[in-house]
Amino acid sequence: MKGVILAGGSGTRLHPLTKVISKQLLPVYDKPMIYYPLTTLILAGVKEVLVITRPEDAPSFQALLGDGSEFGVSISYAHQAKPAGLAQAPLIAEEFLNGDGFYLILGDNFLYGSGLGRKLQNLSSVDGAKVFAYKVSDPTAYGVVELDPTGRPISIEEKPKTPKSDLAIPGLYYFDKDIVEICRKLKPSSRGELEITDAIKEYMSRGKLAVEVLPMGTAWLDMGSFESLLEAGEFVHIVQSRQGILIGDPATAMHVRNNSK
Ligand code: DAU
Repeated sequence: MKGVILAGGSGTRLHPLTKVISKQLLPVYDKPMIYYPLTTLILAGVKEVLVITRPEDAPSFQALLGDGSEFGVSISYAHQAKPAGLAQAPLIAEEFLNGDGFYLILGDNFLYGSGLGRKLQNLSSVDGAKVFAYKVSDPTAYGVVELDPTGRPISIEEKPKTPKSDLAIPGLYYFDKDIVEICRKLKPSSRGELEITDAIKEYMSRGKLAVEVLPMGTAWLDMGSFESLLEAGEFVHIVQSRQGILIGDPATAMHVRNNSK
């Protein structure tokens, strides 16, 4: 299984914290932010990881994660010259993907919940794309999916002012090989970005999009604002100190994965 972590972007919402350091290297309690999405990929069964960063940040990520052997995965690196949108990731990753399906996870997304690893495993048999949906009180900051009564997706919008549902799409996606051809044809949105939601919409119109609503007990945070960064750190601190476990730790995740086979 392959996975791509998109860890570029300008992080302007976190200035001045991110003026000289990449957002995805900031501390979230006791670990750098990127450890959390990397852990999610490892729990999903990913063995080969591509980390996409701004060119100027690449040496820091390489110094932190190396070739991945410390965590039992293989990690390689690619650059995104400008933050031109999430849907650039499959294009940058084309050579790494080599026609395989893969997980794409955003470097600022935190996911934690019982059974999440098992849920994410074996998506390689998915014909098309699979995304998740998560009930939030204010969906306007996210991609939003509307489902019909049978759970089939009927609309997808990026940051709608009047959302058609309260289901946000977290930044963890599974795409089959068609994603590269789909992203190549996308046009920049009004905010000048290639939107991942436009690619997901294309899968929907082809009848090849599966959506799974994450259960209530799952924690999902996008750590891109001061509040959510603090909340994620507090969440990690509370769970770890109460239960005496490490969460978002790639080496521990690999150990769990190997022992659950
Ligand atoms: O967090 C989930 C949401 O992420 C989804 O619900 C939305 O559909 C999706 O568009 C995205 O929305 P955001 O507004 O949160 O995206 P943002 O621009 O903050 O970028 C998310 C991460 O990706 C962030 O860590 C920076 C990185 N990034 C972003 C862009 C635009 C890149 O590495 N390159 C980019 O070109």
